[in-house]
Amino acid sequence: MAQAQKSRSRPESAQLPKGDVVRILLEQHTRIDELFGRVRNASGKSKQQLFDELRRLLTVHEAAEEMIVRPVTRAASGGHRVASARNAEEGKATHLLANLERLGSSSPGFSAELAALETNVVQHAQHEETEEFPLIIETRSEQQRVWMGMAVRAVETLAPTHPHVTAAGSTIAQYVLGPIASLLDHGRDAAKKVLAG
Ligand SMILES: [Fe+2]
Ligand SMILES: [Fe+2]
Repeated sequence: MAQAQKSRSRPESAQLPKGDVVRILLEQHTRIDELFGRVRNASGKSKQQLFDELRRLLTVHEAAEEMIVRPVTRAASGGHRVASARNAEEGKATHLLANLERLGSSSPGFSAELAALETNVVQHAQHEETEEFPLIIETRSEQQRVWMGMAVRAVETLAPTHPHVTAAGSTIAQYVLGPIASLLDHGRDAAKKVLAG
């Protein structure tokens, strides 16, 4: 099912103003879909590199949604249930992603776990696109959505690039743990680059 949904395009994103938070997130959903397909079809070193790219994008994307989008959803009429459900889905995806990172792309169990994550992420994105993003468009002006887009971009430069199960699925935990976890992650990535020469 994930494979059929994967090729779905999102033409609606082009109808939104450039910099609009919903447009940014829709474009990232498309990129995430593409990366799942590329990881699935790759092998060897490039499979791991593509998975690392997917892992980074998924992690910063969900952190930014939890920090910037979720509070606005929660404040909307009927939005409390929507925000809680989306955070719970993201918490589950983060556990699956952390498990995949632990396994590594050469592990025999990797493909099955990747398929489980893809199904989870595709369904989650559809819920955001049908239930949550319309609430953001209805309750925020274009200018406010562009400001939210700027905030999402800023958060994505600071957010952790590795999945942290302690912060996932909670707006408050993202604010409390996010920057600390991010510093650890960036330090780990920098150390890897130095060691790789
Ligand atoms: Fe999400
Ligand atoms: Fe999303």
